[in-house]
Amino acid sequence: MLVSVTMSLLIPPLPRSSKVNATGRLEVAGCDVVELATEFGTPLFIYDEQEIRDRCRAYMEAFSTRSSNFEVIYASKAFSCIAICQLMAAEGLSLDAASGGELYTALTAWFPPEKIFLHGNANTAGELELALRSEVGHIVIDSMDEMMELDRIAARRGRRQQVLLRITPGIEAHTHDFIQTGKLDSKFGFALAEGVALDAVAAAKKAGSLDLVGIHAHIGSQIFSLEPYRQTAARLADFLAAAREKHGFDCRLLDLGGGLGAVYGPDDDPPPVDRLAEAIVSSVEAEMARVELPPPRIAVEPGRSIVANAGLTAYEVETVKTVAGLRNFVAVNGGMSDNLRPMLYGAVYQALIAGRPLAEPTITAAIAGKHCESGDILVNEASLPGPVPGDILVTAATGAYGYSMANNYNGQPRPAVIFVKDGNAQVVIKRESYEDLVHLQEKLE
Ligand code: LLP
Repeated sequence: MLVSVTMSLLIPPLPRSSKVNATGRLEVAGCDVVELATEFGTPLFIYDEQEIRDRCRAYMEAFSTRSSNFEVIYASKAFSCIAICQLMAAEGLSLDAASGGELYTALTAWFPPEKIFLHGNANTAGELELALRSEVGHIVIDSMDEMMELDRIAARRGRRQQVLLRITPGIEAHTHDFIQTGKLDSKFGFALAEGVALDAVAAAKKAGSLDLVGIHAHIGSQIFSLEPYRQTAARLADFLAAAREKHGFDCRLLDLGGGLGAVYGPDDDPPPVDRLAEAIVSSVEAEMARVELPPPRIAVEPGRSIVANAGLTAYEVETVKTVAGLRNFVAVNGGMSDNLRPMLYGAVYQALIAGRPLAEPTITAAIAGKHCESGDILVNEASLPGPVPGDILVTAATGAYGYSMANNYNGQPRPAVIFVKDGNAQVVIKRESYEDLVHLQEKLE
């Protein structure tokens, strides 16, 4: 017990089941991480299944204690695979699919289609067809062109599709510029400014095969402050009042997107889900009362805050070198092919050696990936206890937007993904093989 407390102080972003076991090695959900690396190979994404479930339950409970009319929609872009869709269905969440591919994955998992929300700012006719054919519950319309196209396809299929409009509220959430999505200068959605969103309401109400049930806004990701959510609720309530007055629009569903931050390092302190729910439910209720409209069903779309801290990545250390007078490099057998976040957003990760997580650090080193780019650095400054080739190095909190942004740069097969629970491990995504890398390719004739 004492040991696990020490661990959680040392490495806050690891799953809560993490501890140092009797052999002095890192253990997650009862599984020794060095043994997992040996059995399943590296790089390896490891998810603590119970941690994911607990985080889903925290969302469901936080909202259900405050509202009887709510929906928690897992944003599968954070991590999409058949197993996680099954898990979300079992926990009673709905699902946000950001593309035909994520939709197909959810359908393959037999995720109930009526609980799927299809998103996307550039959906193709094929993606919209798939959504209609599979009878997804809601499609979140991002543009006038998409609205017209969807109306046409739905009419052809004789279906009336429930839709939401994605609104860009012009709120600046304090996060990295690339993951800020609700500000005015955005490729996403209908702006509140200049009546663009109001015109979209009028058009959607006219569209014969669309049933406009609500609106959606997503203001950004890795957000630590609740204030932007309250501001969004206020702005959207004003908008809904105008939409009611001008176009007789009754909003039955208000989806405030995802965005709650995860813990990547000791300085990260996102508000607990309970406080997010409190802020959202109370501000939506108060703002709707202010504009004298009935409170709609409330939806949120968390991705990162459900899976980031449930996941970690195990690599093998390949080389260790010192550039005299400059710095040390510890190079591992993965990198920007399995975690693009340090390179794209300057994201900072914590690293440890799974075989001796509590050993005194002896060096500070950059953790380098194996790719042909100087920028392929996973961690700029990690304090490690005498790393040597063959050590299993873990980066914590890689559960969101790690595997989902993985790629095959330099012909690197994508890693395997396992779920661990009660001392057992199950592969949920197999490791790609070299054959997989070339199996879609044809020889020149
Ligand atoms: N809903 C919508 C419409 C979204 O665009 C997003 C994320 C979410 C929900 C989920 O947000 P979350 O709860 O995960 O913050 N690749 C970036 C993150 C991009 C997020 C895009 N949208 C990263 O690795 O930080």
